[in-house]
Amino acid sequence: MNNQEQKRQRRIRYKGTHPKAFKEKYKELQPEKYADDVAKVIQKGNTPAGMHRSICVKEILKFLQITPGQTGLDATLGYGGHTLEMLKCLNLKGHLYAIDVDSIELPRTQERLERLGYGPEILTIKQMNFSNIDQIVFEAGPFNFVLADLGVSSMQIDNPERGFSFKSEGPLDLRLNPKRGKSAAERLKTISQDELQGMLLENADEPNSAAIARAIISEIKKGIDISTTTQLQQIIKDALKNNRDDEIKKSCQRCFQALRIDVNNEFEVLYEFLEKLPNTLAEGGRVAILSFHSGEDRLVKKSFKRFFREGVYREIAPEPIRPSSEERNTNSRARSAKLRWAIKA
Ligand SMILES: C[S@@+](CC[C@H](N)C(=O)[O-])C[C@H]1O[C@@H](n2cnc3c(N)ncnc32)[C@H](O)[C@@H]1O
Repeated sequence: MNNQEQKRQRRIRYKGTHPKAFKEKYKELQPEKYADDVAKVIQKGNTPAGMHRSICVKEILKFLQITPGQTGLDATLGYGGHTLEMLKCLNLKGHLYAIDVDSIELPRTQERLERLGYGPEILTIKQMNFSNIDQIVFEAGPFNFVLADLGVSSMQIDNPERGFSFKSEGPLDLRLNPKRGKSAAERLKTISQDELQGMLLENADEPNSAAIARAIISEIKKGIDISTTTQLQQIIKDALKNNRDDEIKKSCQRCFQALRIDVNNEFEVLYEFLEKLPNTLAEGGRVAILSFHSGEDRLVKKSFKRFFREGVYREIAPEPIRPSSEERNTNSRARSAKLRWAIKA
């Protein structure tokens, strides 16, 4: 690296006393180098930029009862927090498979776990959708334990270039794997008003679905491309201008959630995963699923109940487990989490 490049790398400029934008948070984005600063952010109840705090770790490990020599699957690798804890339980004996659709974050997590000493002899990482769980079981054999921590990671939400949040300007993308499928911006170009209204209702129970769908389609009919996160947020704000600010904010959150579910076919792939799951588990194999909204939880609950009635699962969670009040207070992203489990007969 020449001198000029070194200078350019060091000069991270931001206004005020603290970095606010994602890219400016250079300390949080290098947790290995600035461990103390990152610890302070976590202590304040925040999630450092570029990181994800795993939810219900204790509860998940208590249920999965992982012992050295077992074979398991983490169906949603993310930042690798749960993966790391499961690897510790294996104590370098057995094997863990970990998958994720995200083509951007997966290599970063893989590198991080390799640096911690978890290479291919104990951990196999693959970029794939968990709806294809039947493909990995051919290679891996039946699993003694499976974990799925649904939804999105903090790294995905916080990175403005991924377009998951209206809090910062970015392309309206929302794909978990930006290399496949249509972005949310492209999806909006061809959707009808009825379909959009239905999507907002079904995927996020949006009470203002009719007004929002009408406003979005009216912009598109004028020939306007809704290509950024803040552009969509502004349309929603204008459509609901007579509502309270906090209500408008909730509607924005629900609309982004509904679009994300749609562009990633989240309900369809979860259904497929749940259908295939029993055939991938060994006898007595344990599965834990962490969900973050009612649509997901309903699908998990229904599937577990049906397979329990059919004798495929010998035991299922009578009620969902919620994160402790301490975890909910220190991590806002844990507040809506529900953990359900099942044990194969
Ligand atoms: C909540 S995060 C997981 C965080 C992880 N448990 C940790 O401790 O770091 C959810 C992850 O699941 C991935 N994901 C969502 N749907 C998926 C699917 N259908 N197949 C595979 N991965 C998926 C997302 O890309 C994201 O990385």
